[in-house]
Amino acid sequence: MDKKIGQLSIFKNFFGEKKNPQKVERHVPSHSANDVGKFYNEFNDKFLQVYGDVIQAFRTNDVEKLLDYQIEVMGLKPGMRVVDAGCGVCGPAIYFAKKSGVEVHAVTISEEQFVVAQRKIKEARMEGKVTVYLGDYHDLKNVLGSDGFDVVYFLESFGHSPYHHKAIDSAWKVVKNGGLLYIKDLFRRESLLPGHEPKIEREIKKINEAYRYNIADLYEVLAHLRKQGWILSKFKTIDLPLAEFENLTISNEFQELTGIAQIESWDDYVFPVDFFEMFCIKPEFDLSNGLDKYFLQNLMYLKVHGKKEEEL
Ligand SMILES: C[S@@+](CC[C@H](N)C(=O)[O-])C[C@H]1O[C@@H](n2cnc3c(N)ncnc32)[C@H](O)[C@@H]1O
Repeated sequence: MDKKIGQLSIFKNFFGEKKNPQKVERHVPSHSANDVGKFYNEFNDKFLQVYGDVIQAFRTNDVEKLLDYQIEVMGLKPGMRVVDAGCGVCGPAIYFAKKSGVEVHAVTISEEQFVVAQRKIKEARMEGKVTVYLGDYHDLKNVLGSDGFDVVYFLESFGHSPYHHKAIDSAWKVVKNGGLLYIKDLFRRESLLPGHEPKIEREIKKINEAYRYNIADLYEVLAHLRKQGWILSKFKTIDLPLAEFENLTISNEFQELTGIAQIESWDDYVFPVDFFEMFCIKPEFDLSNGLDKYFLQNLMYLKVHGKKEEEL
């Protein structure tokens, strides 16, 4: 055999190229928002046992460093009114209110979390600064009974939504013009090698089913945000110093404790998700009047974050 052709086929095998690559079906979850609530009711104690008050897998060893980072990047300042969409037991909400002086309106769909959150708010003497609501974040306006918020944030909660576009629309209705939507979550990973796609999809299905999740497709989410008129101010991998990064061992611990979504074999395993954070600003202007204009996104970002133009 021609040596070059031989090398080429080795190369192709390595990269898993096939003549007719199989189309990989994407997993479409069938859970409802209420099913997510039931899941957190059932596993509330176990989450508290493993995660404590902050139910985020992508975190620092000292979880306060993660929360401090979130205060900084969201630009939380005294007097701001913010919405915590998918608040868990209000660990982050209480911390943010205490440390930065914001007023937090926090929403969970789990009755068990709601009860624990109410107790924790009381124990922290943060009534009036943190209010927890039992409800669905797809209908924030109705649940909160008000709008005009400075920030709406989703901390590893957005991906539970069976219909991401509705969660985005719901945030739009309650955030003020010039306000911020911040999403921190996991998104379907792009497969680097064609042979990895089915493996990624297999793991995604497992996570979705075990956690009542709907791991989002980044491009679909970005498209919807842009179609609705959000200004994509910043979108990035989450910057946690590696030395402080917890390395996701906490989710393994949870899996071992509960037996859910355990990884049976590491030989065939491909890490299926990427963690991103996105910063979206609702334009200052009324979209129906301003379609002929180009607005300086960076200047708006500075305004929201109370910074000066020189700091850009
Ligand atoms: C992984 S936990 C994150 C909790 C919290 N953000 C934190 O950092 O501790 C996901 C949260 O999203 C909430 N959630 C999921 N779907 C929801 C919905 N449709 N409406 C309100 N909350 C929801 C769950 O009840 C849970 O509190």
